[in-house]
Amino acid sequence: MENFIFQNPTKIIFGRGVHKEAGREVRKITGRVLFHYGGGSIKRTGLYGQVMESLKKENIRVFELAGVKPNPVLSLVQEGAGICRKNDIGLVLAVGGGSVIDSAKAIAVSAPYPGKSMWDFVEGVTRPLEALPVGVILTIPAAGSESSDVSVITNEDGMIKRGYHNELLRPRFAILNPELASTLPPFQVACGAVDIMSHVMERYFTRTENVDLTGRLCEATLKSVMANAPGAVKNPADYNPMAELMWAGTIAHNGILGTGRTGDWASHKIGHELSSAYGMTHGLSLAIIFPAWMRYVYRIRTGIFCQFAERVLDMDTGSAPEEKTIIEAIGKLKEFFGSLGLPVTLKDAGIGEERFAEMVEKTQLFGPIGSFKKLDTRDVMEIYRLALG
Ligand code: NZQ
Ligand code: ZN
Repeated sequence: MENFIFQNPTKIIFGRGVHKEAGREVRKITGRVLFHYGGGSIKRTGLYGQVMESLKKENIRVFELAGVKPNPVLSLVQEGAGICRKNDIGLVLAVGGGSVIDSAKAIAVSAPYPGKSMWDFVEGVTRPLEALPVGVILTIPAAGSESSDVSVITNEDGMIKRGYHNELLRPRFAILNPELASTLPPFQVACGAVDIMSHVMERYFTRTENVDLTGRLCEATLKSVMANAPGAVKNPADYNPMAELMWAGTIAHNGILGTGRTGDWASHKIGHELSSAYGMTHGLSLAIIFPAWMRYVYRIRTGIFCQFAERVLDMDTGSAPEEKTIIEAIGKLKEFFGSLGLPVTLKDAGIGEERFAEMVEKTQLFGPIGSFKKLDTRDVMEIYRLALG
């Protein structure tokens, strides 16, 4: 096991009806808030009105910025940071999914730095020492951004999608009410479930040895998601499976499952290029790329893949040759993603090889990616080819 520091300060408020406590939580921190949200789902569902009411009840002055799109962009972040500076905002309240939360985090860390943008932090030109606090009301279990230390933003100049990590970005509080996810289209629930599993698998497939506890916590989380995702996709208003999925989404990415082990994260980076080039939903990119990555790298440490087959997929690995077991396990994982209604190859998603060269180059902008196996341009090209199907 490797040395580690684990500190996650996000207060989690979970359960039915808890979003009505937003005003009280904000009031503990400030009386001036930027209410940040997406393309309008919260207005259609009535959540917007309920949040407003809760804020008004506490006499909180509300400024608004709507319009976050999936795969959020730097220009809106800059606009939000300007609003915060001009109006002496004390907290950015994100009401939505990973895209809204990431946009809110980026605004919060940019606001104290006029004349700079988060891209200066991404590129390491300068390092922020402070950020405004962020609060979250989550409407989709998926990205885990509600308690993670990262914000993933696309710079429209070059369409470059990158994650920026900093402990300053962890939200102060996150309100998780599974009822709020009841209005999700099944496609988004399915993509969310794949994203959650991917956050666990990025940490699970490691070269670090003697990490039994976190290995088993990862396996339990994966099994819970696989047991509950089908029910949540079938009926997003079914509270119990959605509650399991929502809590799993936070556990998967709050850092605890990665303690003492080195994660990989190449699949995420390879997937981000599909989102940049084609606007592909993040979870869908992972449903296609993760199995292709597994297929490309499993020979480096077959043991962990056999363990996955046995303990997560309940396969009887018995006397079968390792290689056969692993290929079968990857097939079963793809079958599971497919059973949630997602295409699991690029061809089935309507994507060909046309932009492979450009996407491959962009994965290497900050050097080779991954740690289970360091991947250069040739490797990433092979993974895109395997993903074609
Ligand atoms: O914009 P609105 O109208 O709200 O619609 C959203 C959006 O179209 C809709 N939606 C959300 N909640 C809903 C709802 N529709 C009906 N009812 C509800 N209750 O769902 C769509 C997707 O929303 P989005 O926020 O994009 O989804 P998700 O949570 O999957 O976030 C994806 C983003 O998070 C990043 C991804 O790269 C992607 O940009 N990630 C962030 C991470 C982090 N910060 O820790 C880690 C992840 O690996 C990921 O990279
Ligand atoms: Zn993800």
